[in-house]
Amino acid sequence: MIEKIEKYIVEVSNLVANTKEEAENLRIKYIGRNGILNDLFDEFKTVPNEQKRSVGQAINTLKNNIQEKIDELISSTKKLNLEIKIDVTLPGDSLKLGSRHPVNIIKNRIVEIFSHIGFSISEGPEIEDDWHVFSALNFPENHPARDMQDTFFIEKNPDILLRTHTSSVQVRVMEKEKPPIRTISPGRVFRNEAISARSHCIFHQVEGLYIDENVSFADLKQTLLYFAKEMFGENTEIRLRPSFFPFTEPSAEVDITCTCKGKGCNLCKNTGWLEILGCGMIDPNVLELSGIDSKKYTGFAFGMGVERIAMLKFGIKDIRLLFENDVRFLKQFE
Ligand code: DAH
Repeated sequence: MIEKIEKYIVEVSNLVANTKEEAENLRIKYIGRNGILNDLFDEFKTVPNEQKRSVGQAINTLKNNIQEKIDELISSTKKLNLEIKIDVTLPGDSLKLGSRHPVNIIKNRIVEIFSHIGFSISEGPEIEDDWHVFSALNFPENHPARDMQDTFFIEKNPDILLRTHTSSVQVRVMEKEKPPIRTISPGRVFRNEAISARSHCIFHQVEGLYIDENVSFADLKQTLLYFAKEMFGENTEIRLRPSFFPFTEPSAEVDITCTCKGKGCNLCKNTGWLEILGCGMIDPNVLELSGIDSKKYTGFAFGMGVERIAMLKFGIKDIRLLFENDVRFLKQFE
């Protein structure tokens, strides 16, 4: 029996454990209830009396060695686990950087383009009164835009509503500042419209306003041509189509050349042109309503939808993608 015990003593001195589980399994194997040590103690009962002393000493040595070894293994695997948790040699977790929303990318770009030619930025409230959204902009009393179908009203009489366009900021600027005025107003607007691939009830516009002595339609055209080339590329051309807005006279809608270069494609519906904004010379009535002398000053204004420009620029086919905030979509603009 002594020999068996001595074999165990050697075996125990060579034990290794790499994990907490391995150390625990060794503990069970050697000093558990049905472990090797208990078996040896059982066997010890059958040892003849004259050998009891030496066998007993050997078992005691084994017992102490096992206990020491198991304690050592358990504490070293614990340390190992701890070390794994704070292994400074592992590569760090990379910080996930967010990305700018495509609408913001385009809004910032528009602001940048106009700031290069001296336009300041102005802002106004999203919750507006009838005066700044409609009346001061020459909208007749019965104009359809004033209808509940188109406008979100917050209160009736006096009318408080969500602005349907950023042209309201024009009025606020004209009331406050004296010409020369050269400003753009980016902001969120609201319309009571069914949501579809092409339209949303919340979207963004950038309004432009330039008032000074002798501002002409040619100034408007050159300013917009400069913008179109900066935004869509040097080879972009524009065309102006006569249109109507209550606050401008004459009014126009501006198209840019389609990327199909007139060959005709789905996007431009084979016309070769894409509409990007509305504009015009500010109606003298509008200047006067905000206290600007229309005999001395003239001006132009324009307004564009940021989502529309973003969709054209990035080839986005459904406006709803810009509002869903699906990271798989947004990630493409990192
Ligand atoms: N406010 C117009 C709209 O929401 C856009 C617009 C057209 C703004 C012509 C202007 C302008 O300043 O001159 O559809």
